[in-house]
Amino acid sequence: MENVFIFDHPLIQHKISLMRVKQTTTKEFRELVSEVAMLMAYEVTRDLPLEEIEIETPVAVARTKVLAGKKLALLPILRAGLGMVDGMLQLLPMAKVGHIGLYRDPETLEPVEYYCKLPEDARERDTIVLDPMMATGGSASAAVTFLKQKGICNIKFVCLIAATEGIERLHRDHPDVPIFCAAEDKKLNDHAYIVPGLGDAGDRLFGTK
Ligand code: PRP
Ligand code: URA
Repeated sequence: MENVFIFDHPLIQHKISLMRVKQTTTKEFRELVSEVAMLMAYEVTRDLPLEEIEIETPVAVARTKVLAGKKLALLPILRAGLGMVDGMLQLLPMAKVGHIGLYRDPETLEPVEYYCKLPEDARERDTIVLDPMMATGGSASAAVTFLKQKGICNIKFVCLIAATEGIERLHRDHPDVPIFCAAEDKKLNDHAYIVPGLGDAGDRLFGTK
């Protein structure tokens, strides 16, 4: 599918497998989410524009390339998206961070919005929406719709595990939004949990269950 990138890097696959194991502790899980997010940042930013500048090395004057000042915003979907922020910031320390509060109603499975705080200049930034899990794709699609309503049009979506159904839904609703996933799982269960997935990412990150 165009605009959908599933990562096959061995380090990412290894760490995702460790995250899936049910005995993995909250501390280990949190570290793994952060590490995978950092590794993904490398590929997600592959198209950042560069500009040439003149610098002086200890040996000579040289023309070299640096990032062309493109501004970024990381937009985690609460709660679980928070787990990806630190890892991404390790590689992108200049990024601003906004927060989108959404939860999936367990009965209707519809996303419910409860909070939003974005950088003031979010419209001028390239935005990266973060959420470790995309199941039905309802939350991801609602978050992107919501950002577009606020005039934000440069959006990428990054998740750790995506169900095929979620990828198809987000791609159908927002074909302009590139989707980056560390792994694709084919199935959802009767409660719309990803199978095999890793369970509830928010609970595993914050130890709430
Ligand atoms: C989880 C997950 C996504 C959503 C995915 O959040 O972090 O936001 O479910 O499901 P969907 O693709 O079917 O919409 P949840 O609603 O459990 O909220 P939480 O992070 O606060 O636990
Ligand atoms: N949210 C999660 O955290 N995990 C799933 O499998 C589905 C939604």
